[in-house]
Amino acid sequence: MQRAFLLLAALFSSASAAFHSGRSCKCGPSDSCWPSQAAWASLNNTVSGKLIETEPLAVSCYAGPSFNAAHCAKVDDQWTNATFQANSPVGYDYPRDLTCPPVNGSTTQLPASGPCTIGDSPRYAVNATVVDDISAAVKFAKQHNVRLVIKDTGHDILGRSTGYGSLEVWIRHLRTGLTFSESYESSCPATNYHGPSFSVGGGYTWENVYPIAQQNNVVVVGGGTPTVSVLGGWLQGGGHGPATRQYGLGADQVLSAQVVLADGCVITANACENQDVFFAIRGGGGGTYGVVAEVSIKAHPNFDVQMQSLSIAPLDISNTSSLLDAVAIIYEAIPDLNDGGFAGYGTWSIAQPTPLVGNSTAGYVHGIYLFNQSTDTAKKLFAPTLEKLKPYNGTSLSITVDYTSFPDYWDFYYKAAAVNGPVGTASALGSRLFSRRSVQEDPAGLREMIGVIAGTPEEFTSNSLEIVGGGAVFSGGSDPLSGVNPAWRISYFNNIVARGWAPGSNQSVIDATQNDITYVKDAAMNKQAWDTGVYMNEANRLDPDYPWNFYGLHYGPLLAIKNFRDPAGVFYCVTCVGSAEWKENAEGVLCPLS
Ligand SMILES: Cc1cc2nc3c(=O)[nH]c(=O)nc-3n(C[C@H](O)[C@H](O)[C@H](O)COP(=O)(O)OP(=O)(O)OC[C@H]3O[C@@H](n4cnc5c(N)ncnc54)[C@H](O)[C@@H]3O)c2cc1C
Ligand SMILES: *[C@@H]1O[C@H](CO)[C@@H](O)[C@H](O)[C@H]1NC(C)=O
Ligand SMILES: *[C@@H]1O[C@H](CO)[C@@H](O)[C@H](O)[C@H]1NC(C)=O
Ligand SMILES: *[C@@H]1O[C@H](CO)[C@@H](O)[C@H](O)[C@H]1NC(C)=O
Ligand SMILES: *[C@@H]1O[C@H](CO)[C@@H](O)[C@H](O)[C@H]1NC(C)=O
Ligand SMILES: *[C@@H]1O[C@H](CO)[C@@H](O)[C@H](O)[C@H]1NC(C)=O
Ligand SMILES: *[C@@H]1O[C@H](CO)[C@@H](O)[C@H](O)[C@H]1NC(C)=O
Ligand SMILES: *[C@@H]1O[C@H](CO)[C@@H](O)[C@H](O)[C@H]1NC(C)=O
Ligand SMILES: *[C@@H]1O[C@H](CO)[C@@H](O)[C@H](O)[C@H]1NC(C)=O
Ligand SMILES: *[C@@H]1O[C@H](CO)[C@@H](O)[C@H](O)[C@H]1NC(C)=O
Repeated sequence: MQRAFLLLAALFSSASAAFHSGRSCKCGPSDSCWPSQAAWASLNNTVSGKLIETEPLAVSCYAGPSFNAAHCAKVDDQWTNATFQANSPVGYDYPRDLTCPPVNGSTTQLPASGPCTIGDSPRYAVNATVVDDISAAVKFAKQHNVRLVIKDTGHDILGRSTGYGSLEVWIRHLRTGLTFSESYESSCPATNYHGPSFSVGGGYTWENVYPIAQQNNVVVVGGGTPTVSVLGGWLQGGGHGPATRQYGLGADQVLSAQVVLADGCVITANACENQDVFFAIRGGGGGTYGVVAEVSIKAHPNFDVQMQSLSIAPLDISNTSSLLDAVAIIYEAIPDLNDGGFAGYGTWSIAQPTPLVGNSTAGYVHGIYLFNQSTDTAKKLFAPTLEKLKPYNGTSLSITVDYTSFPDYWDFYYKAAAVNGPVGTASALGSRLFSRRSVQEDPAGLREMIGVIAGTPEEFTSNSLEIVGGGAVFSGGSDPLSGVNPAWRISYFNNIVARGWAPGSNQSVIDATQNDITYVKDAAMNKQAWDTGVYMNEANRLDPDYPWNFYGLHYGPLLAIKNFRDPAGVFYCVTCVGSAEWKENAEGVLCPLS
């Protein structure tokens, strides 16, 4: 079945290649083909006055008609608040190129003198509240050859919800319904699912869904961070969270979707109709094939949770070699721990600006947990790993282990798993998925890799491990209608490596940091885990091998679907499928490569 489907996709691809010759550069704001005021007014009329001419979020800090010291102080205060950023059509958690930075309002009552421009953020946004608004925006962008961007929360780490000289479809305020059902009903027999489900229409975030799941005593697979959107980039790019080992990736939960295509038409995609789009949006990446306006997703039984907290600190902070030995022992053990049922999150560093474990700025911490098992089982599963760690305890490391029981998933989630970190600053970030082979075949290579990704103390490198694979993520690999990177189906955990830079750093400092992540740290992980790939949503936007790393064997079929469904290239985002056919010119305008 899958083979026939992929063959079909390849046929679509060759048939659509001919359309590409008609592509030209998108119309940029300084081009004569940029839509006239009358054209924008006409679009505004079509969307009932919901067209916004954007201005930078911190414009109130700068000289000009928008200067407002009190508002500027609020922007500065709220800059790191993900919800505040999400409530602006041009608010981003990882602003890549800040052309209008916030200014510390408590120290200045005078307008800041620096430049403040919209940069690569969209010029206009349709504040969509009904699906017709989306269609109108897509049709307008296509007709006027204007770059189109889709944004929900703006959490994207790679800059995929922004773009120079673009019109934005802003779906944050699309709220066409959020409902729970005890038993899913579908006119598509092939869906073959009758359990509990949610129907999510529009820009809801997980913080909107979780309380309803809790009330109905079900678990829903959502993000660890509750401010990410349900049906946007998180889900379409894979989507992991505290329950994915137990119940599968976010993309695996999708039963049916309503999608606005590049011609503005609205379709239903499920296991019976528009299977190509169904496949693509279930893991093939957001912002590429259409605008998802509504999804139905599975919900699952609730359960109790047993959590283990482990922390490790070096006795002598000037020698972290034993700490890295311990990290290697744990990484090697993860496949067995995960097969036993453990999932969870950890973080480690050899040097952080603030304490990580107790008052140590170097260390390793994790919280890993089992569902529907006893604490005894948790202890037994961890015993072989603890045996390997114990010789270090008191000699070069200080190691503590604790266990906590939670009566149900939601008690666990709110007390131990929800993450609401500060946003609003860019950093250089890379990542890699890890299979059993990649951590067990070559222990010396693994230890060496850990030394490389640890960096040097003055770099303040941090590593995060997300044990969110295995279990149901593996079994989801048998679904022929899953577009998820096949690397997920053999990977037990994801490792993210990140470095920041001091505020006000010059471009050569930023470039050197970025290059270190790409060509040293990512490269070391790629070498060790050559058999896997990268989770596209927590990835390096400058990954030189992103088609293979982000999409694996699904890149070909996804590209065929993209070219069949969007031959004109209405949808574009950096690193997204089909994006290799475009390049920004010096001004930032998108032009076809050939
Ligand atoms: C603070 C933070 C915490 C995170 N936590 C997690 C986590 O726990 N688990 C995890 O897996 N990932 C996590 N991520 C990564 C997250 O999955 C990505 O940032 C993801 O792109 C967010 O999707 P969004 O729709 O909320 O964001 P946006 O920036 O609004 O959109 C992201 C991408 O999706 C596209 N898109 C948005 N809406 C639609 C739509 N309706 N139809 C089609 N395309 C659309 C956009 O064009 C863009 O390409 C986190 C990121 C941040 C910044
Ligand atoms: C769209 O129309 C509304 C209502 O008339 C108006 O407030 C808004 O400024 C218009 N948008 C643009 C970009 O002109
Ligand atoms: C974050 O922003 C939202 C929306 O403006 C607001 O409701 C919330 O109180 C803010 N949180 C904090 C901690 O300031
Ligand atoms: C803003 O200025 C105040 C007063 O000098 C200072 O306490 C605060 O830390 C500054 N905030 C930022 C974000 O720099
Ligand atoms: C977008 O629309 C929503 C819903 O109508 C409204 O509450 C919000 O203020 C609008 N945002 C902007 C920036 O116009
Ligand atoms: C660091 O500690 C390890 C193990 O305790 C030891 O073998 C090594 O020689 C030490 N390195 C330095 C530079 O002291
Ligand atoms: C913090 O460090 C000091 C030594 O610098 C040590 O005596 C103390 O026990 C440490 N406290 C904790 C909580 O680890
Ligand atoms: C929990 O475990 C029991 C006994 O092993 C089993 O019957 C039950 O189905 C499990 N519950 C869930 C939600 O997996
Ligand atoms: C490590 O040693 C300390 C001090 O002897 C002890 O309290 C602690 O329980 C040990 N940790 C583990 C995981 O055994
Ligand atoms: C950039 O900043 C670094 C660190 O402050 C400095 O060493 C370097 O000379 C600067 N480079 C340029 C081109 O200004």
